[in-house]
Amino acid sequence: MSERLYIFDTTLRDGEQSPGCSMDMDEKIRMAHGLAGLGVDIIEAGFPVASPGDFEAVHRIASEVQGPRIAGLARALRGDIEAAAKAIAPAGDRGRIHTFIATSPIHMQAKLRMDEDAVLAQAVKSVKLARSLAAEVEFSAEDAGRSDMDFLCRIVEATIAAGARVINIPDTVGYMTPDEFGARIRMLRERVPNADQAIFSVHCHNDLGLAVANSLAAIENGARQVECTMNGLGERAGNAALEEIVMILKTRSDRYAIETGIHTEKIVPMSKMTSQITGMPVQANKSIVGANAFAHESGIHQDGVLKHKQTYEIMTPASVGWMTNRMVLGKHSGRAALKDRYEQLDMPIEGEHLEKVFARFKALGDKKKEVFDEDLVAIFSDDGEAIDEHIRLMNLHVASGTRDTPVAIVELEINGACHSATCEGDGPVDAAFKAIKSLVEPKGRLLLYSVNAITSGTDAQGEVTVRLQSGDKIVNGQGADTDIIVASAQALIEALNRLPNMHAKAVHAQYSGV
Ligand code: KIV
Ligand code: ZN
Repeated sequence: MSERLYIFDTTLRDGEQSPGCSMDMDEKIRMAHGLAGLGVDIIEAGFPVASPGDFEAVHRIASEVQGPRIAGLARALRGDIEAAAKAIAPAGDRGRIHTFIATSPIHMQAKLRMDEDAVLAQAVKSVKLARSLAAEVEFSAEDAGRSDMDFLCRIVEATIAAGARVINIPDTVGYMTPDEFGARIRMLRERVPNADQAIFSVHCHNDLGLAVANSLAAIENGARQVECTMNGLGERAGNAALEEIVMILKTRSDRYAIETGIHTEKIVPMSKMTSQITGMPVQANKSIVGANAFAHESGIHQDGVLKHKQTYEIMTPASVGWMTNRMVLGKHSGRAALKDRYEQLDMPIEGEHLEKVFARFKALGDKKKEVFDEDLVAIFSDDGEAIDEHIRLMNLHVASGTRDTPVAIVELEINGACHSATCEGDGPVDAAFKAIKSLVEPKGRLLLYSVNAITSGTDAQGEVTVRLQSGDKIVNGQGADTDIIVASAQALIEALNRLPNMHAKAVHAQYSGV
């Protein structure tokens, strides 16, 4: 009989904390629905006290997303715990407060300026408060990897007695090695008298590239919840990658008789959605979800695979969602077939949204012979209902070459009126961005510009993510087109449309009358 491992996905919290990965509200909701479809057991939806936007996102996910438990993070502080409780309330019995306090000497002395007894008392008080406000409480001993073992045992015993049903042991700074970390989990389970009343969880960071190995060592020693993220996103070098842990357990079920609830054939679409939304490309040789993960280049390998797939393949591409990605519909296909395909991708679509996406699909079909599922994910993006389209791209013409300074001519409709501008730039994208920005206020500060080829081939769509900041507002925009300059302009315009008080700049003579 296989045992069950609970998958706690923290892409929306630790993943979102990683540099350049912030997501807006609609993107978080889409991600959460995708994660639920993937079959994760718990979604850590955010850190409600961090900002009103974080609170709202956790609250909406708790209201709208069915299936997984919904966790909200809280420091061991009354205000954090109360905010988390309110944010997860719509999830009812599926709501979890995840409260944490640091337990390592360096964190307690340098950061908290508290001694062991004070930290323990604060942890117990917080777990009791959280328990009075939520169905389930998880307690994390931050930097447990570098904490004193006796103290760790004491605080784990006390927080279980206070009502925590999940005890999380994070290797916050990715310092542990697998044998050390596994032994730590075993020792806790053996030494803590009430250990059988809690599920042990681990949360490993990847600073030394050991996050997945450490998580596995913990599983071997009795951990039954793993905290992980899609594509291994997370603070600094990231967290343990969900897709790797799940596929190790599945592929090596001879060694680990442990199951997860993940629908593994949805891994690749979910990885692509994550990369599209965050603008963080997946490296080609990344396990499971990298573009080359199942590509056989050398003649010897190709020959072997043709004779018998298992010569060089330890799992099938289809088992993680690679082979299901060929869209057999062409540009003559109708709405019903498109709608059906999106349903299979767990991306239900209807009404005006379907009409908009259908128009994009037709336009794409004119440019590209084959439309893949990745293309569909890219053109799905926003349904336009959430964004007020103050600015529309009417025309873009860019001239560039090896000898000429690139020039972009852009025509925009801004709040119903036509505006145009011509600008030179350091490259065609720069010229186009300068021309667009010359016509609008506020312009926003560019935080991220990322381009990703969605599929292979020179007719592949380029997918662009642009992130802008104006005041304390951070917004993302995405564009996808077979022409990456057009995709870039679309992405910038989508982001600009999300900035508050967007309007046309008073037209300056130098930019008018193109
Ligand atoms: O890395 C860490 O310790 C964390 C905790 C909040 C669980 O992210
Ligand atoms: Zn973390």
